[in-house]
Amino acid sequence: MDVLKMKQNSGKPDYLEVAEYEKSGEGRHHHRGKSSESFLDKGAILSALAIEFGQTTLDAGCGNGYMSKEFSQRVGSSGKVYALDPDETGIALLRKEIKGTNIVALVGDITTTTQLPASAIDLIYLSNVFHIFSPEQIKGFEVEVKRLLAPGGRLAIVEIVKRVTPFGPPMNMRLSPEDLAQSLRLVSLGVVEMGEYFYMQFFEDRSAG
Ligand SMILES: C[S@@+](CC[C@H](N)C(=O)[O-])C[C@H]1O[C@@H](n2cnc3c(N)ncnc32)[C@H](O)[C@@H]1O
Repeated sequence: MDVLKMKQNSGKPDYLEVAEYEKSGEGRHHHRGKSSESFLDKGAILSALAIEFGQTTLDAGCGNGYMSKEFSQRVGSSGKVYALDPDETGIALLRKEIKGTNIVALVGDITTTTQLPASAIDLIYLSNVFHIFSPEQIKGFEVEVKRLLAPGGRLAIVEIVKRVTPFGPPMNMRLSPEDLAQSLRLVSLGVVEMGEYFYMQFFEDRSAG
């Protein structure tokens, strides 16, 4: 089902309402912690991610944690899912929902050094978060991604396309796959279209060893 049909069928508010932006005191845009759940095809994302049993995944900027719960099923009892977000209220809510599972929900900022273990993450998933980072945050994000990824680990970034769509952030905040590749010193492994309005781009770190 395409994203627009989902919106029409569900009667949910336009993405402009769902992904609200505001000016912070420093004049920088940031999200208020909204979810892309109604706009992305979970099945298509999971199929492209090809998560394996026993893996450790990180849902960075997890929001309500809907993808963390999907990852939890995929990695199984021998795997682990970290759900990270700076929004304390959201993480507190998620913690109540995930008691007794393999999900660990943490308050944290992926653009700084987190409390997560080094070289331990097979997949870092970042959905609809990257475009809000400042150039300084992008540098910090790259350092932390490189610290966290296990050998052979991958980073998957989901972003909205950089063209006019019926919803979404202002055009000057959007990033094409080429923009993403240029802003990170990581190797782009490829881009997968996610419906009409989103894409997912994979990266790996080849700087180590
Ligand atoms: C539009 S929401 C997307 C949530 C979820 N990934 C999704 O696709 O539904 C953006 C999320 O990024 C989080 N966020 C913002 N800055 C962050 C940072 N520096 N590190 C980690 N998460 C961050 C926000 O709190 C919010 O939950």
